[in-house]
Amino acid sequence: SEVSPGAIRWRSPSNIALVKYWGKHGVQLPRNPSVSFTLDGAATDTTLSYKARELAGEGVEVELYLDGELNKGFTERTKLFLEKLLPVYPFLKQLSLKIKTSNSFPHSAGIASSASGMSALALCLVSLEEELFEPLKERSEFNKKASYLARLGSGSACRSVYGGAAVWGALTALEGSSDEFAVPVSESLHTVFQDYHDDILLISKSEKSVSSRAGHGLMEGNPYATARYAQATRRTDEMLSVLRQGNVERFGEILESEALTLHALMMSSHPPYILIRPNTLTVIEKIHQYRADTGLPLYFTLDAGPNLHLLYPHSIAAEVKKFIREQLLYFCEDKMYLADRVGKGPERL
Ligand code: PMV
Repeated sequence: SEVSPGAIRWRSPSNIALVKYWGKHGVQLPRNPSVSFTLDGAATDTTLSYKARELAGEGVEVELYLDGELNKGFTERTKLFLEKLLPVYPFLKQLSLKIKTSNSFPHSAGIASSASGMSALALCLVSLEEELFEPLKERSEFNKKASYLARLGSGSACRSVYGGAAVWGALTALEGSSDEFAVPVSESLHTVFQDYHDDILLISKSEKSVSSRAGHGLMEGNPYATARYAQATRRTDEMLSVLRQGNVERFGEILESEALTLHALMMSSHPPYILIRPNTLTVIEKIHQYRADTGLPLYFTLDAGPNLHLLYPHSIAAEVKKFIREQLLYFCEDKMYLADRVGKGPERL
C-alpha cells in the first residue's frame, strides 16, 4: 500500500511462424517446437498504469481500454489472465490496474493481435515487478520471464519477445530451449533473412469460424497428430540450419508445406473445418505460377485463417510488389495489403 502510482509502456510486434505450433497440453505447453520471424510494423502499444488499491477484494482490479475505449470483453479476459498469475505475482492483488492498448494495424483487418498484445502486456508486467521490487540481474532473465508470462496469455506470443527469430519448445539440438518460454535465435540468422519481407494479403477480414483455442483442442483427437508432432520437431531443426545457411529455396519449401499441413490438420480434425477461402487458393496458384515463370524465391505461409503472408528477400522487393499490385490485390478484401519486415523486437517507450 506504499506503492506510488506509475505507468509502464511497451511496444511489442507480432510474429509469423515458419514452423507452426498446433496442438497443446497442460498449462499452455506446446505439443511440438516452433520457430518464427518477429515482425516490425504489426505491433501493439500497451501502457500499464498502476496505483495502490483502495479496497482489498477478491481477484485482480483491472480495466482494459482498446483505442481509448473501455472494452468489457478484453477486460474480462485480462482479469482472468492476471488472476492465473497470482501464484507468481501475488502483489497484483494490492494494485488497481489500468491498461491502455492500441494496435498499429486496423482492429478489423483480420490480423491476430493476441501475439503482440500478450507479449506487450507481459513485458509491462515484468517491468512492473522490477519497479516494485528489484531489477532482474540480466536482460536475458528479463526476456525469459516476459516470454514465460506471454506464453500463459497466448502460446505464440512467447516468441514475440525477441527480435529476428525465436524458437519455442524444447529441442535437443538447441541449448537452453524450453517448452515454457521461447529463446532467441537471431544471432544465427543469415544476412539474407535479417531484412526479409512479409507482405500480408488480407483475403478476408471476417471473424474465424473456429478459434485457435478450439483448433489446438481438436488436435487431441486428430489421427495424424503423432506423425505431425514428429515432423514439426524435424522441421524446426532443419529450419534452424536453413536460417543459418541462407538457403531461401529450402526455406520456402518448408514454409509452404507448413502452411498447407496446418490447414490439412484442420480439414482432418473431427469435426473437420476449413479456414482458407477460394481466393486463398487462387492467390496460391498465382504465386506458384510466378515462381515457375520468374524463378524468384517468393513463398507464402498462412496462420490459422485465410490471409496469406508473402515472404521474400529484400533484393526482389520491387518485382514482388509490382506482382502483388498487378495480379494479387484484386483477390484481397478492400484491395489492400500490409507491408511488413523482420523486426528488431519489442521496445520500451
Ligand atoms: O498462439 P495461438 O494459440 O493463437 O496459436 C497460434 C497458432 C498458429 O498461429 C497457427 C501457429 C503459430 O505457431 O503461431
